Amino acid sequence: MSWMKTAKYSVELRDFLAARGAGLTVGFVPTMGALHRGHLSLAEAARRECDVVVASIFVNPTQFNDPADLASYPRMPEQDMKLLEGAGVDVAFVPSVEEIYPKPDTRQFDFGPLARVMEGASRPGHFNGVAQVVSRLFDIVQPDRAYFGEKDFQQVAVVRAMVGQLGYKVEIVSCPTVREADGLAMSSRNLLLDKAHRAAAPYIYMALQKGVELGRSLSPAEVRSHVVQAIDATGLLRTIYFNIVDTLTLQEVERWDDHRAIRGCVAVQAGAVRLIDNIAFRS
Ligand code: PAF
Repeated sequence: MSWMKTAKYSVELRDFLAARGAGLTVGFVPTMGALHRGHLSLAEAARRECDVVVASIFVNPTQFNDPADLASYPRMPEQDMKLLEGAGVDVAFVPSVEEIYPKPDTRQFDFGPLARVMEGASRPGHFNGVAQVVSRLFDIVQPDRAYFGEKDFQQVAVVRAMVGQLGYKVEIVSCPTVREADGLAMSSRNLLLDKAHRAAAPYIYMALQKGVELGRSLSPAEVRSHVVQAIDATGLLRTIYFNIVDTLTLQEVERWDDHRAIRGCVAVQAGAVRLIDNIAFRS
């Protein structure tokens, strides 16, 4: 017998939260399912810090700019439910597309330069879709704290900007990237890697780590070209971008000393799969 509640409809979720009583802090973990230890670390953090924990599983069509990517996105609902329950989630919200978008969401957000670089430049419309769904989910769940993985570094920045623009009273908590034993950042997309690309994928984080080491003596531009070369030299991985950016503006840096906190963010094509990762150069 499962004690975790599953809600398909917003009203069911609201009724459940109301029945738990007023004044309790609600922690929220939005996901697109195909859960891994990274997601579970978010649910566990929410469990430690909040009275009630809600996790959503919703593969949001509006954030996919490529229909093939949406179609191939891994889905494993039964396993996901068991994992959420094991992580101590109180209620799993599993809405349909009609529940989230009873009518098409035509909102166009403007997050300025923040959303125009990196993922924003290489996946047009992606962050608009993320902002649409996260704001819909925040309207429904009304969380006090919402948990996001640092692997999606730019997404966290965009969500914070959205919260500022729309005036949500939610604290955005960003949690460290969880990695496989060989360093590969956990991602639902790792499941889609074939054997050869899975074997090559750890070189992404190795290259980032080497980049940080080289950053002690080389300029950002020099580090950049070393990292790109190291990734591309695998023959199986192709760097889409590697930007060394100021953590607040996400714009590229020219000199280390001009910035307080600096991050290296990378996107890589590994066969049919697109992977992202990042590392702190200065924090
Ligand atoms: O990071 C994700 O899995 C998604 O972008 C999110 C935040 C659940 C919105 O669909």
